[in-house]
Amino acid sequence: MTAPVGTAPNFNRLAAPYRWMEYLSFGPALERCRFHFLSRLAHCRSGLVLGDGDGRFTARLLAAYPDLRVHAIDGSPAMLAALRRRVAAADATHRLTTETTDLRLWSAPSAPPNPSLPFTPDCIATHFFLDCLTTLEVARLARSLSALAAPGCLWVVSEFAIPARGWMRPLAAALVAALYRAFGWLTGLQPQQLPDHPTALAASGWHCIQRHRHLGGLLVSELWQLR
Ligand SMILES: C[S@@+](CC[C@H](N)C(=O)[O-])C[C@H]1O[C@@H](n2cnc3c(N)ncnc32)[C@H](O)[C@@H]1O
Repeated sequence: MTAPVGTAPNFNRLAAPYRWMEYLSFGPALERCRFHFLSRLAHCRSGLVLGDGDGRFTARLLAAYPDLRVHAIDGSPAMLAALRRRVAAADATHRLTTETTDLRLWSAPSAPPNPSLPFTPDCIATHFFLDCLTTLEVARLARSLSALAAPGCLWVVSEFAIPARGWMRPLAAALVAALYRAFGWLTGLQPQQLPDHPTALAASGWHCIQRHRHLGGLLVSELWQLR
């Protein structure tokens, strides 16, 4: 597998304004997308949340399900600090572990329990994170996660998308290109197009069991399951 090229993006200076930037640009739409499948995780006990940024999903997940533990991984120490503050406000710090890592290089520990991942996840969440990776990097991550996850593990994905046809297609293409330019400038993010995450996940044993489109297909919430 090709090693990741170049440095990882740096989201540290976006940690504080990130939520407001999102609300000002997309209103509540991204929030709806993130939480669309939350109720499907009610039975889960061990969550792995990748690239959750300021932790709004992790905090709400832990608040919703008191028997759930979460391990959250992000490359940005400032984002993880914001995540921990939010989880502390939800009084759930004792059910959270965090790890600062470049997820392009991350390999799941092969023999949990492990200090860096103290459980086998039965649910995984990536919200607007896979779009920070190339298709090859998503494929590598998906393989690693299928080797680690419990049988039947659920993976909730939120992403931007460019619909194949319809009135939203040109608008979505322009918006996604503008977002990549902005994040490239603000964080040094190198990828400049959406990865083909459905192909990468399917090739690693994940099966998409539900998909919901928001804003005419500009946003998708997906629920994947390990076969
Ligand atoms: C666009 S933000 C999305 C944040 C949040 N999940 C959301 O729903 O808005 C991407 C997040 O992924 C993290 N990230 C991006 N590339 C990464 C990498 N290679 N390794 C680890 N974290 C990364 C960033 O630090 C940031 O917190």
